[in-house]
Amino acid sequence: MHHIILDNQTDFDGWRKAARALALNDVKPSDVSWRVADDAPELFAPTAPPLEPPRGTFNVPARFVELAEVAILHRNPERFALLYRLLWRLRTHHDLLELATDPDVAEITAMAKAVRRDEHRMHVLVRFREIGREQKSHFVAWFEPEHHIVELAAPFFARRFADMPWSILTPDLCAHWDGHVISFTPGVDRSEAPSADRLEETWRRYYASIFNPARLKAQTMQKEMSRNNWRNLPEASSIKPLASNDKASDMPRKHADDLETLREEAADCRACHLYKNATQTVFGEGRQTARIILVGEQPGDKEDLAGKPFVGPAGQMLDRALEEAGIDRRTVYVTNAVKHFKFVPRGKIRLHQKPNTPEIKACRQWYERELAAIKPDLVVAMGATAAQSVFGKITPINKNRGRAIDLDDGTRALVTVHPSYLLRLPDADAKAREYRRFVHDLKIAADVLRKSAHAA
Ligand code: URA
Repeated sequence: MHHIILDNQTDFDGWRKAARALALNDVKPSDVSWRVADDAPELFAPTAPPLEPPRGTFNVPARFVELAEVAILHRNPERFALLYRLLWRLRTHHDLLELATDPDVAEITAMAKAVRRDEHRMHVLVRFREIGREQKSHFVAWFEPEHHIVELAAPFFARRFADMPWSILTPDLCAHWDGHVISFTPGVDRSEAPSADRLEETWRRYYASIFNPARLKAQTMQKEMSRNNWRNLPEASSIKPLASNDKASDMPRKHADDLETLREEAADCRACHLYKNATQTVFGEGRQTARIILVGEQPGDKEDLAGKPFVGPAGQMLDRALEEAGIDRRTVYVTNAVKHFKFVPRGKIRLHQKPNTPEIKACRQWYERELAAIKPDLVVAMGATAAQSVFGKITPINKNRGRAIDLDDGTRALVTVHPSYLLRLPDADAKAREYRRFVHDLKIAADVLRKSAHAA
């Protein structure tokens, strides 16, 4: 038996070196035991003579290496052996990874997926608390990951919170950012994490202000988060009282699971690079029975943090215009052409950047699936990015504005400006005039809706 001892739980280089030497020495997977240096030693099984230094080479598909780098972060202690078994089999069966029904392939794929989900959970659920004051403040968070994902997830926080020194403490490993480099120290006990301070209260107030019970699915949230993550959220203590104060729990539930499934799938979307710096996917919001879909460009800073579309200044402008046009926002479905926030950091501010065509195209699948799930009478495209996504090609606003246009799939579309355009106009008169035109366009939408309800 060959006993391989890896340096630590995420020692991919160590695994790769050992696996290569074992395979080149023709050592069968059943003749290898794998463990990590800190774990309890194995006292039985005689040891095989040392391996010959490896000679020769062999190739494995790049996809295996990508999969292995992620799957090795899974907490299952059998992962090292499973990976070696796959490597061993790949030498003679190069297309093995294409066989999704193969038990080893299915298991490694499921492990990699679980690791990615855990990484996503960490991105979304970590809440920093401020320690110290002003110049000397440091932000600390406690998180209990399911898998060994701290090193994988840390660069996201360095990009996202580049200007603040932070530490994320976990029982496995702690990550620290000083504004320049990420460093890691051994894991700590929960008691070492700060428990309550003014930042927590701010976060709770912020959550209460953006709270929309129509979106609340406490059971889904709890399923998504482990019990520990749920407990660590400051807003968790606010959810019950807020939910019971609201009467919107009688929202129609017909087909609700379809949009919910889409939302869950989109949470892991990596179809373009924008997921890397954004906090989370901001999926559409509203009833599945909505007759109108409103499409914007992409979430902004506030939406990125809240995970909901149009909750910032453009959202307030939109709410006002909808009300004046006689449309109740709660009856429409609101979404964006691109579902991750694209920005460049400028000091403490994240400056919005317009999505480009590859990003719009990569995200279009979600809009198409929202459309298929809702089957609205009318889609309102607000701004050039939305129009490009709705029509599937660059579509000038002014030439097409203000009239219902038939789409190939039988839906009708109305093109108008984006509310942010109104916010950016420097001249008060122009602003007032353009706002009236925007409301006028929304009134056309309300009219189309009335007529199609009448015809039905
Ligand atoms: N702008 C958009 O296009 N969408 C949002 O959700 C917010 C601002």
